[in-house]
Amino acid sequence: MNFTKFPRRGYLQGQTPVEPMKNLSKALGGEVNLFVKRDDLLPGASGGNKTRKLDFCIADAMEKGADTIITCGAIQSNHCRLTASWAAKEGLECHLVLEERVKGSYKEDGSGNNFLFELLGVKSKRVVEGGSDMMAEMEKTAAELKAAGKKPYIVPGGASNPIGALGYAACAQELMEQLNTTGLSIDYVVVPSGSAGTHAGMVVGMAGTNANIPVIGINVSRTKEAQEEIVFGLAQKTAELLDVKGGVAREDVVCYGDYVGPGYSLPTDAMVEAVKLFAGEEAILLDPVYTGKVAAGLVDHVRKGTFPKGSNVLFLHTGGSPALYAYLDTFR
Ligand SMILES: Cc1ncc(COP(=O)(O)O)c(C=O)c1O
Repeated sequence: MNFTKFPRRGYLQGQTPVEPMKNLSKALGGEVNLFVKRDDLLPGASGGNKTRKLDFCIADAMEKGADTIITCGAIQSNHCRLTASWAAKEGLECHLVLEERVKGSYKEDGSGNNFLFELLGVKSKRVVEGGSDMMAEMEKTAAELKAAGKKPYIVPGGASNPIGALGYAACAQELMEQLNTTGLSIDYVVVPSGSAGTHAGMVVGMAGTNANIPVIGINVSRTKEAQEEIVFGLAQKTAELLDVKGGVAREDVVCYGDYVGPGYSLPTDAMVEAVKLFAGEEAILLDPVYTGKVAAGLVDHVRKGTFPKGSNVLFLHTGGSPALYAYLDTFR
């Protein structure tokens, strides 16, 4: 895969670590060897997956002459936090449209990422009802800013368009370089599947490097069927943009939808257990909305014996720990 024709800002500063999780593997019965790729340690305030996507999206914005970034997300959005973070570094204005997916959950003085939006200098936050057309809402903000003389650029929710998903195709290439250098053979990669750019990008990158490693997405908001269609659609467009010969196959996109619980961002007992397990066994902080639920799925499948004995399974840790502080009651 050749990424050189796409502008990039160079946010990564090298590869994120791949680490064995020996204590956790043992605690779960010792039949499967668990590994983690630490994208929670990526640069950008408090780290996480969006830095890889924004490396491409903000470069595109700046190439187009933007001086202002508009994006959207849920009220505790990690994506909004990282967009604000990179906008601050680049000297761009950042405006957010926040979707209150759970009615009554937004608090102006909320903790976690919501607090960080302020600290990172976000210029405006507008909260809209759950289910709103977020692109239309961002376009409204863009029209107001244009009228005020600004040059706004809209980054879609989660930076999950083909430009953003390039970041995760590049991550798959980075991972394969690490595995080929160390000789570590991975049998499965488990990733979060939300706005879909991470999952779609990884599928494209695995196809583009001919890796032959299945990628399993664990959903945080949708059913298996709905999410697989979204991931596949984005993967096809990303493969086309990157000119990956042969594209991606529908069967390369696999999602598990059983760990969402009552809904997006709503806690489950299995999420709480997984967050405590990762913290206690590996000193790795997950988050309640994304990686905690994905880890709950991973733990369940290890316990159920889905992965054959002796398999090496890699969990892609996409970050999100600031949201923990908005969920203290759930964990105490
Ligand atoms: C910490 C974290 N992990 C995973 C995801 C899901 O990634 P994607 O939206 O690319 O599917 C998100 C999305 O916001 C996230 O914040």
